[in-house]
Formats: sequence, structure tokens, C-alpha cells
Amino acid sequence: MNARRKPLIAGNWKMHQGGASGVDLAVQVARAAAVLPAVEVVVAPPYLAIPGVVRETTEVAQQHHCAPIGVAGQNVHHEPKGAFTGEIAASMLVEAGCRWAIIGHSERRQYFAEQDADVAKKTRAALAAGLGAIVCVGETLEERTSGRTLDVVLRMVDAVLDVLAGAGARGVIAYEPVWAIGTGKVATPKDAQDVHAAIRARLAGRDVELANATRILYGGSVKADNARDLLAQADIDGALVGGASLDIAQFGPIMRAAQELAS
Ligand code: 13P
Repeated sequence: MNARRKPLIAGNWKMHQGGASGVDLAVQVARAAAVLPAVEVVVAPPYLAIPGVVRETTEVAQQHHCAPIGVAGQNVHHEPKGAFTGEIAASMLVEAGCRWAIIGHSERRQYFAEQDADVAKKTRAALAAGLGAIVCVGETLEERTSGRTLDVVLRMVDAVLDVLAGAGARGVIAYEPVWAIGTGKVATPKDAQDVHAAIRARLAGRDVELANATRILYGGSVKADNARDLLAQADIDGALVGGASLDIAQFGPIMRAAQELAS
């Protein structure tokens, strides 16, 4: 971590905890986050849980006299409105109380055929609507073993460089090696740091302010017992957590590790 960037710990719930159980989980996260002022905390529930999560976490913040945790959509459509059955526009997320959107997650790229150009359009739409954008990048196992990690990751970063320029702290990149997602195989802190440093250097090549402001999160099997070593790396500014974000006994210590390292 680096003192000039506030650590960001985000929980991507994927297609879990969509109803009342999601609201309960979000309240637990909000209560834990209320005593961790050095950390920005975001949860990304399924769409249907968003209004309840926003309402209840806002109430927790009022009780604790602190800023509410952020709520993110897990995806966004790039058009503002129209005949796109099943899709959600960025302005609709804003209206529901979201402040963030996750964009280009590897599961979107893999199962829904999202391409770099789609990710760029979605990122532009999210930022234009006032959301922060957490743009996901990462290589597959085959790409890593064939030595193409940086080619792939930097190609994905290049697709959003111009879009993120000027976004300040609302622009976030999540490096999530696909082989580490949901597998229990985590990148070593050194391997993760190497990729993060390469991403930071690419941002700096475009604009030094972009490199300084953009938080680069690590994601892929982050758990309570490995978070601290990852977050201690110079260019790792937080985590995008999947499975462990569904359990406050895991997510709580991850948030606290960020707080301790930042203070
Ligand atoms: P896991 O933490 O379950 O590996 O998922 C990571 C992820 O995909 C977060 O977006």
C-alpha cells in the first residue's frame, strides 16, 4: 500500500446472497467498517438486493456518524437506456444508491463474451454517470504458463487508459488472475506485486497523476490468512474479494488488515 491512496476492500458477492440474507451480510460489513476509517469498503450484491443493502447500510452509518460503505453493481450496460432486455444502465445504479460498478470481470469476459472494447464503453458510461469503476483484468493459466501474462494484462489496461484518465480515485483496476479465482490458488505477494508494478508503470506512461490516483486491487482467493501479505506490497492498494466476502469472519479480518497497514 501507499499512503497517497486510501485502501479499498471490495466484496464481489457474484450470484449469492440476493435477498434478505444479503441485507443482513451488508449490515455486518457496515458495522465492521464503521470503526475502520482508513479503509474504503464496497460491497457488490446481486441487483435485487441493492435497494435493501443501500437503505440498511446507510442507517448503520447514521448510527455510527460515519460515511456509508459503498455499494456496487456487478456489471453495467454501456447505453443510457433502450431496448436491451435484461440489462441495467449506469444511471439506474446511481438512482438505486450505488456509487460503484464492477466492470469486465473475468466471468463476464468468459461467460458473456465481453471484449476489451465493451469494457471500455461500460467504463466510460459508469464514470459519466458518476459511478466509480472497478475494471477487472487478468490472465488465464494457459496465458501465464506460456509467458504472456503482461501482454494480456497490459492489453486490457490499454483498453481503458484514456477512459480512466481524469477519473481520479473513482478509477480502479482489479488485477485478478483467472487461475486464482475461486480455486484457493493465490498469487504469491511477489508475483502479484510484479504485475501491479507493471500496471502502475503503464498508467504512468500515459499520465503520472493517473498512476498516482488509480488504486490497483488484487483479487483471486484472498482470505483472512493471506490478505495482510498481499496488502503490504507497495502497489497493491486493496482487494477484490469473492468467496471470502460472503463470510464476515473472513471479510472482517481482511478489512482490518488494510486498516492496520494504513494507520
Ligand atoms: P475468489 O475470492 O472467490 O477467488 O473470487 C475473486 C473474484 O472473482 C472477485 O471478483
